[in-house]
Amino acid sequence: MNVEHLIKQMTLQEKIGQLIQILPSVYSDDHEDVITGPVAQLMKESGITSENRWEIGSVIGINNAAQARYIQSQYLEHNRLQIPLLFMADIIHGHRTIYPVPLAMASSWDIEAIEQMARQSAFEATVSGLHVTFSPMADLTRDARWGRVMEATGEDVWLNGEMAAAFVRGYQGTDLKNEGTLAACVKHFAAYGAPEGGRDYNTVDMSDRELREFYLPAYKRALDEGAKMVMTSFNVVDGIPATVSTYLLRDILRKEWAFDGVTISDWSSIKEVIFHGVAESLADAGRLAMEAGVDIDMMSGAYLNHLEEAIEQKRISVGKLDEAVLRILRLKDELGLFEHPYRGIETMTEQAVHLAPEHRAHARELAEKSIVLLKNEDILPLSNQKIALIGPFITSTDVLGPWAGSGKTEEAIPLIEAFREKGIPFSYSPGSGVEEEVDWEAAVETARQAEVIVLALGEASWMSGEAGSKTDIRLPKTQVDGLRKLAALNIPIVTVLFNGRPLDLRKVERYSTAILEAWYPGTETGHAVYNLLYGHQSPSAKLTMSFPHHVGQMPLRYDALRTGRPADIENADMRYTSKYLDAPNEALFPFGFGMSYAQFDYEQLTLSHHDCGHGDITATVKVSNTSTVEGDEIIQWYIQDQVAKVSRPVKQLKGFNRVTIAPGTSIEVELTISLDMLAYLHPDGSHSADDGYFTLFVGPSSTEGLSAEFALNRVVKEIQHEHDDEKTSTSAR
Ligand code: GLC
Repeated sequence: MNVEHLIKQMTLQEKIGQLIQILPSVYSDDHEDVITGPVAQLMKESGITSENRWEIGSVIGINNAAQARYIQSQYLEHNRLQIPLLFMADIIHGHRTIYPVPLAMASSWDIEAIEQMARQSAFEATVSGLHVTFSPMADLTRDARWGRVMEATGEDVWLNGEMAAAFVRGYQGTDLKNEGTLAACVKHFAAYGAPEGGRDYNTVDMSDRELREFYLPAYKRALDEGAKMVMTSFNVVDGIPATVSTYLLRDILRKEWAFDGVTISDWSSIKEVIFHGVAESLADAGRLAMEAGVDIDMMSGAYLNHLEEAIEQKRISVGKLDEAVLRILRLKDELGLFEHPYRGIETMTEQAVHLAPEHRAHARELAEKSIVLLKNEDILPLSNQKIALIGPFITSTDVLGPWAGSGKTEEAIPLIEAFREKGIPFSYSPGSGVEEEVDWEAAVETARQAEVIVLALGEASWMSGEAGSKTDIRLPKTQVDGLRKLAALNIPIVTVLFNGRPLDLRKVERYSTAILEAWYPGTETGHAVYNLLYGHQSPSAKLTMSFPHHVGQMPLRYDALRTGRPADIENADMRYTSKYLDAPNEALFPFGFGMSYAQFDYEQLTLSHHDCGHGDITATVKVSNTSTVEGDEIIQWYIQDQVAKVSRPVKQLKGFNRVTIAPGTSIEVELTISLDMLAYLHPDGSHSADDGYFTLFVGPSSTEGLSAEFALNRVVKEIQHEHDDEKTSTSAR
């Protein structure tokens, strides 16, 4: 389609219409509803009329093929220029087959598996008529109080970028004209994951350095991978609502990054500029958003009700309007919608694609790779012990997590079903609901005869996700009380956790013999957890977000700066250092931590040479599986810049190897250390590496393993350390 020619035929109203996103209900087939019912109220509030609804550009929330076909056909019967509607929705971790929540998926560190998940999700969504997903969510997160951490991939800037890129590749494939592809909309631009107090929608305030070093790179990585859209965030950045920030949307996104795709506001975030106190009226907010470069207004009514007048009064140029319209028309053309307005629903059927066996199989495998073994005092894997299944999440199907698209909890496999399918004899008692007391005394009696207690606890899915912020990140009290009562039996307890955020697990750690952090594993929950409990799969997942000792440590991050008074672990009674009186600085379970049923030893860290100024350094390490079972290990490489022009993190992840090691064998893996890995943002805005000394760390987590020194244009002795942050006050603290 020649969109430059098409736009010349469009009226001002038709152009403005392309910038509007509205709910499917305005195309309701219930004529009465449209005229008098709740839909009429919605239309009245948002300025939609029976006439102008045939000029709207996109719809949010389509979720099935029949609905998509009905609305598109009605629309094209009325649309003068036959410009098809764009259908968008939140496909965050699956459409009908639901995969683990993103924070769980991230713990797999399996980039290919995440890409495959996105590809399968795209297939299931496109056969339901969708064209765009509001994913990946690339917000960096360091605060477990914020409910949307479940939707993110964690606290590391580089890893978040790699995962966001995998989402984009999976959704978009190589050509959006191909069947089963979805356009990706990266969000929330920008820094939505850093609200003060961990409270959703709250103020975000940080230096430009912090923004550019930690919060922007993952969005950029998604755009470099070809993401077609960007969604603005609810929060302010530098005091200006992101949705009307010309710094973010024009200076950075359009000029520095040369992004020429479509921008969309978050839900009514243009109208929220009024509540931020930065616009006097909806018209004012709409003008600011247009000037900043927001192409699509999601649900605020600002553009539909006030843009025409602003253009007629020359407060907004037609040029800016045409820019936005052309970007939207180009996206529709890239998706092939002009030729195939029923794209995705012309040939394939939902029945044939949704919950396909290979989709469920991948959901199970990804869940198995996403569930983190946090503790295991020689009780897992289980064999033929007498089992008591206790707790609210033994039977609960509330295991899809927030943002579960069109997933149905009744299609999820609860843990108890997996035990039944396998014919494992067990006794069962709920003990409690998620929050309400049920009958822990009965649970204790049920458990008394068992040899092992499998205790399934957690948060209801509404306790995280959007607007799910909490000040107390412990499990509900009744659950911890029950755990304590069961612990009095002196029977080993395997605690399985279903939750959407890092929790304060001090009590759970004290009373449990083993802990599996299952997050919300999705449709295949029961099968995945069962396979790990009985060793059909060995846990391999590693945390991508730190679990604190106490919520008071929030925000918490492994890649913290050193401060001028690093806590001196060897000299703990030295009062005047940066530490708490009532809690450690460290995480209870740190970034990169996760256990396996196998045992891995790290040895022989060697460097090809020690000066990066003489060419890339190849670092090699030998990792041995000293156990009798095969296992996957995620070998992590970190680098510390010892001295720079700004204070630098104690270490930063620079690479990892996800490998399978057979029992009794060893492998060697390597990392190529290049100059770009050492570069950072200088005070003058340049991005480069300084001459000096660096420390390389390699190990099974961010706090243990081997280390060695190397340099850039300096001389280094060949030295190697055993490094464990818990024991030594290395220069890294
Ligand atoms: C929500 C979320 C955003 C989502 C959008 C559409 O408020 O902030 O992530 O994509 O609305 O559902």
